[in-house]
Amino acid sequence: MAGTGEVWPYLLRRFPGLDKITALDISHRMHLEAVDRLHGAYAEKIIHIEADALKTDLEANCADLLVSTFGLKTFNADQQAILARQISRILKPGGSFALIEASDPKGWALRPIYRIYLDKVLPMVERYFLRGANDFSMIGTYTRNFGDSTQMANALIEAGLSVEIKKHFFGCATSVAGMKPVGKE
Ligand SMILES: C[S@@+](CC[C@H](N)C(=O)[O-])C[C@H]1O[C@@H](n2cnc3c(N)ncnc32)[C@H](O)[C@@H]1O
Repeated sequence: MAGTGEVWPYLLRRFPGLDKITALDISHRMHLEAVDRLHGAYAEKIIHIEADALKTDLEANCADLLVSTFGLKTFNADQQAILARQISRILKPGGSFALIEASDPKGWALRPIYRIYLDKVLPMVERYFLRGANDFSMIGTYTRNFGDSTQMANALIEAGLSVEIKKHFFGCATSVAGMKPVGKE
């Protein structure tokens, strides 16, 4: 769910020796925009694969690190279980993963205000100030349905990975990170 790859510059800075990023996204337009708009300078390091993350036959045990930023929220529980098995299959033994997603901060005192922001303000701001864009028109519904990354954490554990779940910004985002144990194929 690489999208336009906002996270790649940070990965390249954090791991200067990184010579290859495999960007998988189902959307053709996302791949084109990624190269055109953002990543011309190091485009040769990015391999683009247009595929469904739930069905990809990307080679087993091939990735040192697997990241997803804001790609989980449209998946239901069954799809998250499939994705978790894919992550477990694709990672090298000893390889790491980190996934983050916008979440519904249940229990936070300011949640009602944040819900108004997600449900109403954000879609309106982009409609009126970003030339009719509608990238965030469904963000309220998606975060409400997704809840947080607990379901994904359980699916990853079920798939044999070690997992740590964290809350960010009072639960407005949640992340799961961990690794594939050495010795697991
Ligand atoms: C909200 S965007 C996140 C993009 C980017 N990672 C970021 O941080 O801005 C979600 C991306 O997931 C992609 N996507 C949705 N379902 C997918 C699937 N089943 N397989 C691969 N990509 C998918 C969409 O095309 C979109 O680019």
